[in-house]
Amino acid sequence: MIEWLKDAQFYEIYPQSFRDSNGDGIGDIPGIIEKLDYIKDLGMNALWINPWYDSPFKDAGYDVRDYKKVAERYGTNEDAKRLFEEAHKRGIHVLLDLVPGHTSEEHAWFQESGKEERNEYSDRYIWTDFWISGIAGHPYIGGECPRNGTYMLNFFKCQPALNYGFRHPDQPWQKGMEDPACLATREAMKDVIRFWLHMGCDGFRVDMADSLVKDDDPDKNGTCAVWKDIFGDIRKEFPEAAFVSEWSNPELALKEAGFDMDFYLDHVGNGYNTLVRDYEAGGEDRSYFKSEGKGDITRFLKDYVPKYQATKEKGYIAFISGNHDTPRVKRNLSEDELKLFYALLYTLPGVPFLYYGDEIGMNYLDLPTKEGGYTRTGSRTPMQWEEGEQKGFSSAAPGDFYLPMDPSEDAPTVEKQKADPASLYATIKALSGLRHDLRELQADGDFAVIQGKENEPFVYRRGSYLCAINPSMEEKRVPLKMVEEAFAKEGLHFDYPVSPAPLCGIGKAVITQGTLLLGARSFALL
Ligand code: NOJ
Repeated sequence: MIEWLKDAQFYEIYPQSFRDSNGDGIGDIPGIIEKLDYIKDLGMNALWINPWYDSPFKDAGYDVRDYKKVAERYGTNEDAKRLFEEAHKRGIHVLLDLVPGHTSEEHAWFQESGKEERNEYSDRYIWTDFWISGIAGHPYIGGECPRNGTYMLNFFKCQPALNYGFRHPDQPWQKGMEDPACLATREAMKDVIRFWLHMGCDGFRVDMADSLVKDDDPDKNGTCAVWKDIFGDIRKEFPEAAFVSEWSNPELALKEAGFDMDFYLDHVGNGYNTLVRDYEAGGEDRSYFKSEGKGDITRFLKDYVPKYQATKEKGYIAFISGNHDTPRVKRNLSEDELKLFYALLYTLPGVPFLYYGDEIGMNYLDLPTKEGGYTRTGSRTPMQWEEGEQKGFSSAAPGDFYLPMDPSEDAPTVEKQKADPASLYATIKALSGLRHDLRELQADGDFAVIQGKENEPFVYRRGSYLCAINPSMEEKRVPLKMVEEAFAKEGLHFDYPVSPAPLCGIGKAVITQGTLLLGARSFALL
């Protein structure tokens, strides 16, 4: 496993909205460079930057027109290079966003592919052989190009699927995975990967990583084989490059496909969703971190623990605060509730990813769609750096911003939160520092559940440390005898301060007469 990932703490940057350095109302690469010291100071030592490539921006850049060119609105390839250098000077690794499953319909490959005469790119995308032929089980488009055929889509209408072949081709126009045209697609993607790694990036977040081979078997062995092949080549040349998949199936992504990390995404009803976004299921909100105390940690553990156990030797589950596709966590949880969520996020094994602005509890805004964002748009608003109308995001008039600034009077800012030792920002910075300091809290540190039941604090061990969380408003007790016994089973001696303070606490947490007393909404690390 890649050494630098063990202590990696990621920060996701949506480049449109982070920091505008040239006053045109949209974020850019020099703006990100300006803020590297801020990121470092917060404790984050790795970045994931959403697509910054040339694009018509019908899906905010996930519709790539040129994989090798920075979009003008963000700067130049020279700026990109400078960002890698400046980040590395500060010990920060940088992941870009690889979109291997589709391009923009405006990509030169697609333009060529849609021509009537056969050419090098004719089979780079998935085309039927007749202008009104359907493609069973997949979205497809006809009537757009001179070529006599329809083509498959991977996501929006503007995103034709690249051709990595079919697992079991059963139509004359379907290619097998090993067809030279499909191998050429793979090579083209390796070429893109090499281009940026050579320039200085440290790896990729991989968009829709499970979508490559079509009509794949349920265990995705076709797509996994493609990734193995890609990694087989790339890792020989760049052994330190890290890859995190948008897959949310670690048993396939980490064990079979060979990714280093796999995102635990927000899917209705999964373990992560029950922690903070249970309202998405439509019923009563029983999110674990709501202080009404209706949550139940077992819902999370049932989903998470088997996945963790099955994959911990192979790679890391990547926890997110949120991302550019999910409603911000602040939509559903107060700052006090969020502090406990982050206590968990930064003390679980695997690799944590913080979405920009979540460190100050930025709000989710109800906004009309922008660049294919739809309900995601409200999570993509400009970063709030300072007090004032423009909030330090840009010198442009606020009406000219890429997206509107949070208009609420109490919109959080970095400036305000930095000045307040009790802020969400201060808590996250403290938790991040703790994780850097304590080796056993990091990605590969040992993890075991000591108590995971309904209505009781969630108690777990990370190496030789004890963590306990009580998200409810009721005071709860953890018998230390139970903890001692759990430690003893592992041959560990549980040695805790007799009194007073735990190593790290949120809310009230004290040790008294053989119990750890956890006040309302509290977390303790001993
Ligand atoms: C997942 C990305 O996170 C999302 O923003 C994008 O719209 C789709 N993939 C399509 O690329």
